[in-house]
Amino acid sequence: PSILEGIEDLNREQVEKLLARTKELKIGSPARLPLKRKISVATSFLENSTRTKLSFIMAINLLKGIHIDFEAEKSSLKKGESLEQTLLTLNYQGFDICIVRTKETKLLSQFKQRPPIKMINGGDGTNEHPTQALLDLYTLNELFNGELAGKKVCIAGDCTHSRVTHSLMKLLPQFGIEITLCGPKEFLPKEIPAGIKTNANLEEALKETDAVYLLRIQAERHENQFDMSTYNEKWGLNLDLIRQVGRKIPVFHPGPANIGIEVDQELVDSNLWMAHKQVENSVYVRMAIIEAMVTNGDTNIGAKYNTI
Ligand code: CP
Repeated sequence: PSILEGIEDLNREQVEKLLARTKELKIGSPARLPLKRKISVATSFLENSTRTKLSFIMAINLLKGIHIDFEAEKSSLKKGESLEQTLLTLNYQGFDICIVRTKETKLLSQFKQRPPIKMINGGDGTNEHPTQALLDLYTLNELFNGELAGKKVCIAGDCTHSRVTHSLMKLLPQFGIEITLCGPKEFLPKEIPAGIKTNANLEEALKETDAVYLLRIQAERHENQFDMSTYNEKWGLNLDLIRQVGRKIPVFHPGPANIGIEVDQELVDSNLWMAHKQVENSVYVRMAIIEAMVTNGDTNIGAKYNTI
C-alpha cells in the first residue's frame, strides 16, 4: 500500500512476502541491499517511543537511507499550515516515506484516496500498531518453526487501550492462531471480533496457551484512574505461575514493560522472556516494510492538479 495504517491494508500474500524478506535481511542473504537508489525517510513521533522510533531509524541506516526527524512542534504546522500541505512539502523535498506516531486515531485515513506521501503508522492512539504486530508474527513464526496454525496465544492485560492488540486480533487469526484475551473486565474490549475468546482467569488461560503476550497498563490513555496497587497480585505474571502449569510458556511483551506490575523481574531475566527477540526482529521487519513500500510502484502519490 501507499499508506500502511492498519493490518487491513495488507493482504495475506503481502504479509508472507514481508516475513520471507525479513528472514533474508536477518541472515544477510541473498542481497541485503537491493535498493538501487538512496532512499529518504522522515519520522514524526508525536507520542513517546523508544523501540518503534529507534528501530525504524536503525532500519533506515541499514538500508543506507537518509533519515530526518521531523519535529512537528517546531514546524510550520504551528503557523497554521495544514497537515496535507506539510506532507506534500516532504514529498517534493524528496522524502519517500513519512513514519508517524499520533495520539489521534485514524489520522492517516483521510489521505488514503490521494496520498501526499507514502506513510507508515507507527502507532495511532488506541487504534493500531501494524508494524509491531508484524514483528510479533515474525517472532512467533520463528519460535514455532513456521508451525503457526492451531497455536494459542493469550493476550493478557489492558487489551482495550492496546493498539497492538487491535492489530494482532486482525493479523494472527489469518495464520490460524487462536487468540484469548485475558484481563480485568474494564480492560476487555466491548467489541471483540468473531473467533477471539476471553478468559477472566489468568491461571486458567495459561493452562490452555502456547504463548502469553503481556500488556502494560496504559494509564496515559485511561479516562478514569485505575487502581494499580493490587494489579500485580491479581494479574501479574511470574515464574511461579508458569511453573504451576508445568510447561515452559514463552512470554511476549511489546514494551515498555512495567516490571513489578504486569511481570516480575525473575521472569524478565529468564529465557522465557521473548521481548528482546521481538526488539531484535523489529529492525529487520521494519527494513522489509520500508523496502517493500519504496519499491511498490505506486504512482498516485503527490499533489492533485486541476487543469485550468
Ligand atoms: N512497542 C512499542 O511501540 O514501544 P515504544 O513505545 O517504545 O515505541
